[in-house]
Amino acid sequence: MTHRQDTEVLRTALLQRLNDGEFHSGQILASDFALSRTAIANHIEALKQIGVDVFSVKGKGYKVARPIELLNLGKICEYQNDNRHANRIHISNIVGSTNDLIKRMITSDIKVERGTCCLAEAQTNGRGRRGKSWVSPFGCSIYLSMLWKFASVYQALAGLSIMVGVSVSKSLMRLGIDDTQLKWPNDVYHQNKKLAGVLIELEGQVGAQTNAIIGIGLNYHLPQDIQGIDQAFTDIHHTGVTVSRNQLVACIIEDLWHNLTLFENDGLSNFLDDWHKRDWLLNKAITVHNGSNAVHGVSKGIDKDGALLLQQNGSVQAFHGGEISVRAS
Ligand code: BTN
Repeated sequence: MTHRQDTEVLRTALLQRLNDGEFHSGQILASDFALSRTAIANHIEALKQIGVDVFSVKGKGYKVARPIELLNLGKICEYQNDNRHANRIHISNIVGSTNDLIKRMITSDIKVERGTCCLAEAQTNGRGRRGKSWVSPFGCSIYLSMLWKFASVYQALAGLSIMVGVSVSKSLMRLGIDDTQLKWPNDVYHQNKKLAGVLIELEGQVGAQTNAIIGIGLNYHLPQDIQGIDQAFTDIHHTGVTVSRNQLVACIIEDLWHNLTLFENDGLSNFLDDWHKRDWLLNKAITVHNGSNAVHGVSKGIDKDGALLLQQNGSVQAFHGGEISVRAS
């Protein structure tokens, strides 16, 4: 094991120990982990740096503000209807970005099956759409990336974003959160705030098989004082529905495996109705920003390929890309 892996194993053990929500004296931790109290303090500081909410009280010791339900492969499989695919699910503690981890797996010599998933408790370089970063504190969200291989780039391009948004929204519905909406192309909203985002990266050459890396960030229970998010956001906790993190992951993965197969065979046809029911932008006055170009109009849903329909001066134009902002009415 490398030094870095040793450190990660130790910090995980320390977190698991603190995760009962009780106070733990620095002295007892030091003795149990065969370390100095300063070393324990340093490891706790490192846990804080990755977003674990630990505080200390003089004379009592360290305590996590809120115990975290850690990701657990056994539990995820228990929550799935068909648990024969455990070997496709990989859980890490801290990674740069789960999308990048999938990319590294693809370029390694190991054969990576389609449907392979990487999950992490925290990301140090979480990436959002349009070059933004995705704030990824430890244990507060779902950070999930899945690999799917398509026969051609065209097959993956037409509507995959739309399908993934619908799939996540339907998983949430299955778990009792039945009022999410979708902002084109694939943001999941709850009560007008962003609950989840999707970053899809395609790799491959024209005429050859395309790897789609589907990255999903779903806010679970974010710290109250979280910094660095530049838009209105919410999390599962604020929906008022209590759901296990592992169950959430199990459903999202299982539904995606199923829906990706449907999508591969029949394109978007099975998903359009579900999109229309959840279309957050429908009939809103919006601006589509495409590079330096800004086009104003009224959103009129999506076409059969998933392109956004924008009405201006009586005519309707389809947009396949662009960033949307809603104009004050
Ligand atoms: C967005 O900007 O709305 C997309 C956010 C996507 C975040 C997820 S978290 C898992 C995966 N790994 C990343 O680095 N990004 C995606």
